[in-house]
Amino acid sequence: ISDYFTFLAPIDLQGRGRRFTAYFNKLCDFFDKMIENRLAATTGEGRTNQDILDVLLQLSREDNSKLTRRTIKSFLLDSFIAGSETSSTTLEWAMAELLRRPELMKRAREEIITVVGFEREIEESDISKLPLLQAILKETLRLHPPVPLLLPHKAEVSTEINGYLVPKNTQVLVNVWAIGRDEQVWEKPDCFMPERFMEAGSSIDFRGQHFELIPFGSGRRICPGLPLGVRMVQLMLASLIQSFEWSLPDGMKPQDLNLNEQFGITLNLASPLKALAIPVRKM
Ligand code: HEM
Repeated sequence: ISDYFTFLAPIDLQGRGRRFTAYFNKLCDFFDKMIENRLAATTGEGRTNQDILDVLLQLSREDNSKLTRRTIKSFLLDSFIAGSETSSTTLEWAMAELLRRPELMKRAREEIITVVGFEREIEESDISKLPLLQAILKETLRLHPPVPLLLPHKAEVSTEINGYLVPKNTQVLVNVWAIGRDEQVWEKPDCFMPERFMEAGSSIDFRGQHFELIPFGSGRRICPGLPLGVRMVQLMLASLIQSFEWSLPDGMKPQDLNLNEQFGITLNLASPLKALAIPVRKM
């Protein structure tokens, strides 16, 4: 409500401001503890496998550093909020689509077993040899972009696009969900067909240069977590497919799987996915 009637914002009619503040404070306390533990445990430089927190703390100790504890916590907060549900939602949609097309799940698994086998864990370097897996991620992000309207953008100057005037200061929402389902752009847009990205001549990618597929946005505000997000989701999906035989519970048929959407922070499955996993690989 406050977005449309901004004068009501201070009253926080829906209590969202209060709820957000409480959650943000909880997360900040969590980061505080994490930072305290890290400072107490080691100086960071001594660790062989430094993570981003080590690097940030190291930078904050440098002379004239402007990196305060508060800045570090804000950075972590941004990354956690922007990076966790987007990645988990993408993974859940990919698994749901594969459970709905068991023959595709079988092909994805055959690809992984041929390249990696059962014996060892999948590594990042294997992913480039798994074209079907990569196509599955692209198709998942086309049909189910976790951030369907991107983040709100604002026109810095008045601009004309396709004969339409976008006045300065207009808030612009880009509907990537609709672009992904536009039948003038995509053949059978409602079907989950990763094969479309494997056809000869298809070079479509989600890195911001092909405007028919921009689940991470494009240009200067493109998602800075794209490389990490893509790596994580591909690795998690490949590991799940490699390590387990998957089926639906209670004799449910693949075509009965409910893929209705629900909009929260990201675009989720309305009913969380339930699946049975039988381990096939020694952990
Ligand atoms: C599959 C995973 C992900 C998807 C689909 C995704 C998608 C997006 C989208 C659509 C935007 C807005 C871009 C725009 O408005 O033009 C965005 C922004 C952002 N993302 Fe991601 N993201 C993912 C993972 C991550 C990860 C892993 C991180 C960090 C750890 C991250 C950090 C951010 C941040 C900080 C912003 C805001 C950038 C800004 O305001 O300029 N994202 N992401």
